[in-house]
Amino acid sequence: MHRTHTCGEVDETLLGKEITIAGWVVAMRELGGLTFVVLRDRYGSLQVVFEGDRPDIAHGYVVKVRGKVRMRPEDQFRSDWRSGKVEVAVEEYEVLNRAVPLPFQPEDDVKASEEARLRFRPLDLRRPKMQRNFRVRHEINLFIRNYLSERGFYELETPILTKSTPEGARDFIVPARLQPGKFYALPQSPQLYKQVLMVAGFDRYFQIARCFRDEDLRADRQPEFTQLDLEMSFVSDPEDVLGLIEGLIAEIFNRWAGANVSPPFPRLTYREVMERYGSDKPDLRYSIAYEDWTDRLSGKGNRIIDSNVERGARVKALVLPVSLSRGQIDRLLKEFQFLWFKVSGGKASGNLAKFVRDTDLTPYEGKTVFVFVGKGTPFYESLGEFRRTVAHNFLKPERDWAFLWVKDFPLLQWNYEEGRIEPAHHIFTSPYEEHIPLLSEIEEALKEGKGGEEMDELAQRILGKQYDLVINGVEIGSGSVRVHDPDLQVRLLKLIGLTTEEIEERFGFLINSLRMGAPPHGGIALGLDRIVAMCLGEESIREVILFPKTTTGVALFEGAPSDVSPEQLEELGLKVVGG
Ligand code: AMO
Repeated sequence: MHRTHTCGEVDETLLGKEITIAGWVVAMRELGGLTFVVLRDRYGSLQVVFEGDRPDIAHGYVVKVRGKVRMRPEDQFRSDWRSGKVEVAVEEYEVLNRAVPLPFQPEDDVKASEEARLRFRPLDLRRPKMQRNFRVRHEINLFIRNYLSERGFYELETPILTKSTPEGARDFIVPARLQPGKFYALPQSPQLYKQVLMVAGFDRYFQIARCFRDEDLRADRQPEFTQLDLEMSFVSDPEDVLGLIEGLIAEIFNRWAGANVSPPFPRLTYREVMERYGSDKPDLRYSIAYEDWTDRLSGKGNRIIDSNVERGARVKALVLPVSLSRGQIDRLLKEFQFLWFKVSGGKASGNLAKFVRDTDLTPYEGKTVFVFVGKGTPFYESLGEFRRTVAHNFLKPERDWAFLWVKDFPLLQWNYEEGRIEPAHHIFTSPYEEHIPLLSEIEEALKEGKGGEEMDELAQRILGKQYDLVINGVEIGSGSVRVHDPDLQVRLLKLIGLTTEEIEERFGFLINSLRMGAPPHGGIALGLDRIVAMCLGEESIREVILFPKTTTGVALFEGAPSDVSPEQLEELGLKVVGG
């Protein structure tokens, strides 16, 4: 080895000893005939001191140094370095490699744009913060592997070149040279394989699995991301999965985020969270919640309320524990439609004021009350958007961490934009047994060509054994107990519009497997990038992915996607039109 010690492990126990270290030059300064240089490696930073001629080194050089360890003057101790009390008096040095002038210094307070950071990613990854991020990512992976292995799970690897696995996004496809005109799809998740692995008798499977989805990108979405994916046999109730996962999640967040949480996490049903928060992933660090004021406000003479309630709408109120100014309320009115009042000195003002005269106003003193009237999923989603907006703009989180399971989602939902029934999670989720008879009502309604709110309401009555893990308003994971009856699976696939032929072509391998003795099973997938980012307090999962893509799907470091040669296209039988 080129070294006897790393830069991060030199302390007083080595005083007077001769050691050899190697690392990157991250700082240089000359003073009174001495050159002070900071060398850094993955383990830490260490000062080395050259006497006499200035050494022929510069920022970014990889340097090996032999010398004696001595104390630094006490007023120069670096308490933030593990090797911060000592330095090395250089006796001999060797440049192991030179570096061009660096586009930016690999320091935590990096000034470079994100584009430059992604373009020169190895340099960016050399920053101490990024080194920490990937150390933590490694530690969490290792912890997960041990935790699950101790509980009887096998880590099994499923194919990457595969057949389309629907998770609601577009597929990335790969042309198959040996089967001209045919394509593999990259897996959006290992969903179907893990179910088939239960048929294969593996009982408990997990995988730290790469998934690929061609969808619009955001801070918490990448086209290529990692799931902790798992599946268990003989699961009958969602609780069989939740208990295992919340134990794992609590340990991860306690160890790496200092969350101090203990399971069980609260459980709310989809209906409850939609009614209270207007969202299936509410941020419960804020306690504000919608109340149903339909009885309180209808029949009081407010035209908007009365005419809508007559048509089945609900009146939902949100009490904000802050008295907003007129200007602030007007700004909210630009984005949202609501009625409101606020109370000050026992008097109500606002366009609802005269309708709350007979209400005891004491509980609303110094507060602003927003009232919404409507029905249907889009209405509830707008309530959620409003709650998020006012919470972020006007409130402070009441706690650092809010863990939540949302359960009992509707199995199906009406897609208003495309005018069709679709699965709320994915079509392999099992309905609760007692709701299976309701499927025939949807089948009938579809035959009659019904749609819109009517179908939405009907669909909401069939609940699926689905559960989501939500942390601080972010969906961290999602899973379900699956359909293991092949006939029910075919029936559900038909319900979302597939023909018998399409089912055979796309899902034949799953259905045929289910016909060969499928145990009841269920599982979950957790977004590992999101978990690591959240533990580290990072806003974007790009900070915990080595070589992430930009929001336009470009890998700046390697320069992908890129052109391929005409010969490659020819061989694949492909022709590029347009582009
Ligand atoms: P789902 O599609 O909900 O479920 O994904 C599970 C979790 O994966 C994370 N995730 C993402 N993270 C980063 N970038 C993305 N583009 C992205 N998409 C999803 C989220 C999400 O909660 N097969 C099912 C799971 C199951 O039923 O067992 C599935 O993939 O944190």
